[in-house]
Amino acid sequence: MEILVKNDYNQMSIAAAEIIAGLIRKKPDCVLGFATGGTPIGTYRELIRMHKENGLDFSNVKTFNLDEYLGIGINLEKPYELDQSYARFMYEELFKHINIKKENINLPDGLAKEPDNFCQWYEIEIKKAGGIDIQLLGIGADGHWAFNEPGSSLASRTRVQALTKQTLDDNYESFYKKANIKRQNMPHYAITMGIGTILESRHALMIASGAQKAAIVSEALEGCITSKVTASALQLHPGKVTVILDSAAASKLTWSIKY
Ligand code: F6R
Repeated sequence: MEILVKNDYNQMSIAAAEIIAGLIRKKPDCVLGFATGGTPIGTYRELIRMHKENGLDFSNVKTFNLDEYLGIGINLEKPYELDQSYARFMYEELFKHINIKKENINLPDGLAKEPDNFCQWYEIEIKKAGGIDIQLLGIGADGHWAFNEPGSSLASRTRVQALTKQTLDDNYESFYKKANIKRQNMPHYAITMGIGTILESRHALMIASGAQKAAIVSEALEGCITSKVTASALQLHPGKVTVILDSAAASKLTWSIKY
């Protein structure tokens, strides 16, 4: 596991985007796993800048997103319909600014009529695409990856997952409150890639920033491997692992950043 500590959020974002861009240049038809949330926004902005200023070409890149609320979602044909889906987030924060092909974008379908069947299909699509080359990951306040809440099996696959109060509170503040949606009306379930699915990516790239993430980052990277902190599964990843932190998020790490 390689842990890189950068001065601030901006430097962390640039470093993550450089790794992703490096792969796109080397393997133009690579498969990228994307995350939502506040942390990757800077990485997406840097990728957009690289596309606009340096011609970084996404035309053959395929993507798979980690998760989506159940019960909402957008039609990429009509992306301006107001909704708080992660699909819309991806469209606004990245996809509409780059030359990715619509048919190469894969998002968990929060509006799937048969969500369990959809989850199985999503797993098959990832395999058919040849697996994920780089999976970008954040980390939740309780140590979750995607919507793999505490207690999720470390071997779990893509599935429907109930959300914890902490996740609902965090996401209410960051998404739903702004849209004047009542707390009780926000989705309480989600579709999420499983920890087992994430661990099959060839390169896991986790980013975290800010002092509020310092304790959970140290639990995930230096603590026990436990389903209580599903991101601790990073320690089990059999492939390449890169963690990029800003100095505040790295401030509680001890032995793991000594070399
Ligand atoms: C979302 C996801 C989540 C977030 C986590 C941190 O696709 O995978 O696990 O990475 O909730 O969110 P932020 O970045 O907003 O702190």
